[in-house]
Amino acid sequence: DGYRLWLKFDKVASAARYAPYAKSISSEFASTPILVTAKKELTNGLKGLTGVAPVSLAKNGSIQFVKDPSLKEEAFSIVAGPQIQIKASSDRGILYGVFELLRMIQQEKPLANFSSSPKVKFRMLNHWDNVMGTIERGYAGQSLWKWYELPETVDPRYTDYARANASIGINAVSVNNVNASARFMTPEYLAKVKVLADVFRPYGIKLFLSVNFASPKLVGKLKTSDPLDPQVRAWWTAKTKEIYAQIPDFGGFLVKANSEGEPGPQEFGRTHADGANMLAEAMQPFNGIVIWRAFVYAPNPKGDRFKEAYNDFKPLDGTFAKNVIVQVKNGPIDFQPREPFHPLFGAMPKTPLALEFQITQEYTGFSTNVFYQSILFKECLDSDTYQNGKGSTVAKVIDGSLGNDQITMMAGVANTGSDRNWTGHLLSQANWYAFGRLAWDHTLSSEKIADEWVKQTLTHDEKAVKTASDILMKSRDTYVKFTTPLGLHHVMGQSIHWGPEPWLERSQRPDWTSIYYHRADSVGLGFDRKASGSNALSLYHPAVAQQWLDPAKTDLNYLLWFHHVGWKEKLTSGRTLWDEFCYRINTGLQEVKDLQKDWDSLQGKVDPEIFADVRGRLAAQQRESVLWHDAHLLYFQTYSKLPISYGTPTRT
Ligand code: GCU
Repeated sequence: DGYRLWLKFDKVASAARYAPYAKSISSEFASTPILVTAKKELTNGLKGLTGVAPVSLAKNGSIQFVKDPSLKEEAFSIVAGPQIQIKASSDRGILYGVFELLRMIQQEKPLANFSSSPKVKFRMLNHWDNVMGTIERGYAGQSLWKWYELPETVDPRYTDYARANASIGINAVSVNNVNASARFMTPEYLAKVKVLADVFRPYGIKLFLSVNFASPKLVGKLKTSDPLDPQVRAWWTAKTKEIYAQIPDFGGFLVKANSEGEPGPQEFGRTHADGANMLAEAMQPFNGIVIWRAFVYAPNPKGDRFKEAYNDFKPLDGTFAKNVIVQVKNGPIDFQPREPFHPLFGAMPKTPLALEFQITQEYTGFSTNVFYQSILFKECLDSDTYQNGKGSTVAKVIDGSLGNDQITMMAGVANTGSDRNWTGHLLSQANWYAFGRLAWDHTLSSEKIADEWVKQTLTHDEKAVKTASDILMKSRDTYVKFTTPLGLHHVMGQSIHWGPEPWLERSQRPDWTSIYYHRADSVGLGFDRKASGSNALSLYHPAVAQQWLDPAKTDLNYLLWFHHVGWKEKLTSGRTLWDEFCYRINTGLQEVKDLQKDWDSLQGKVDPEIFADVRGRLAAQQRESVLWHDAHLLYFQTYSKLPISYGTPTRT
């Protein structure tokens, strides 16, 4: 079943190879809660994988935890010889080394020397979970956190959740929605939150809270929440102290302010920096941090939403306190199936920036479509901002290697929920897994991560591993083809963000209509973001803008992000825009059928329940792809007035 995620420590076929190492564990470390976890995980893991349960020895175990102060805080090094040594400078490093060793055995790899150090300091999940137990943009059931049962009843599932995170290096979690209820600042809720922090701590995970900027008014009964008001500042200082009294290693606050109706400092004529710095001051004595989100845009039907976060934040570069990090979504609009990287990466050299991905599949197919996010994550991480010349990738901006950022972070909006298999679509577990692995080391390839995940979760059969990995690897491109080909974006159903709604042309918020984004007219399709249009391209370094300036040279995958292209214009593919549009959508449709066939070939090779569940979801995806096909072609045809032509292959 899917509950055990990638941590199925069933006996491997080559168990005999590893059994000699599974005899005993010794440790040079003091027995901290994290070290106890590490030992427990290693003991249980080895017992399952090899059939041999290791005993604890004072020294000379067949596996040894060795102190090596030369290693960085969470880094580890595995040295394979007659014994296995896991070296680290801290208990955390040992914990991560243990999970790495188990990962090697689970994949039946030869035990070889291996060292690793995380590329960013905070590898964080953002839960968008509400007080009432619902999850904003969650597609796997209800929230894992049972607020009404807490603090008295502690669901053992919290521990299972923590160990899954620890196994992939996730060390920070914000537990509540960024559209935050001020209730989380009340003693009643802090007592509940404290229990979660206590469960997470032995797994090396720090807890954070999303805060409502108007809390001083809503909970503290003050007249204002103005960040420069002395009473407001005093309120946050006292509240912060109260939190740290309960949770001594509390991570800090995550803030969505002046965005989509959430309160913020701009209501009082203050800037984002004024707001962030006020909270940072309260956090500072406790080494807490403030994560301030840059996801802001205001209703401006004539403007371009693409530019708004940049316009608000770029002028603030260098004005944030030292313990503030600004969290920027991967793209400038909103977690689309394919977006160019956010222009703020590369534009705020004096401010630490966190990269926010969305693991949950809001615009990428809910839990009925397979969409392997690793491909999208890597595309963004590998994008070159040219901040300090060629090679200044987004990855380097966020891991601090371009400057000397004290705080570095990668965040992912979680896709977990109360569904038995955690993520709804079983293949979406791979997205949680990939996020953790890439946050730890963004140089890993999507193929490697897919291969690891499949071996740990689905099968060891060589051919089946290849088939399942290929399904993941192809899935993103397929989804883009039938939903948002050629750089089309934000054409999903407006309220729930599911399914096609390109025909939304009128709304109270004109900048939320689909036509605001796709700009279809009798001439053509796409958003002109050159100087002749919104000029959003000018926000990028000239070397970046260059690649997208000329429609004839723009990668077709980004074409409609930046250009309004005539229906009959010839593209580099040799087809006209309209024909290419039809062709891609139809190809996507065919590819979904191929994914179904590929999955069908895994019958008997993977757990029957998992097989049946994914099979059902792929059938739903196939049905949805037809809906997208019909919606897009029939709607856009009202503008192109051209016959539908598929090129080859044709829809059957
Ligand atoms: C998206 C999403 C919202 C969410 C917002 C955010 O717009 O639809 O539900 O609150 O992103 O990231 O803050």
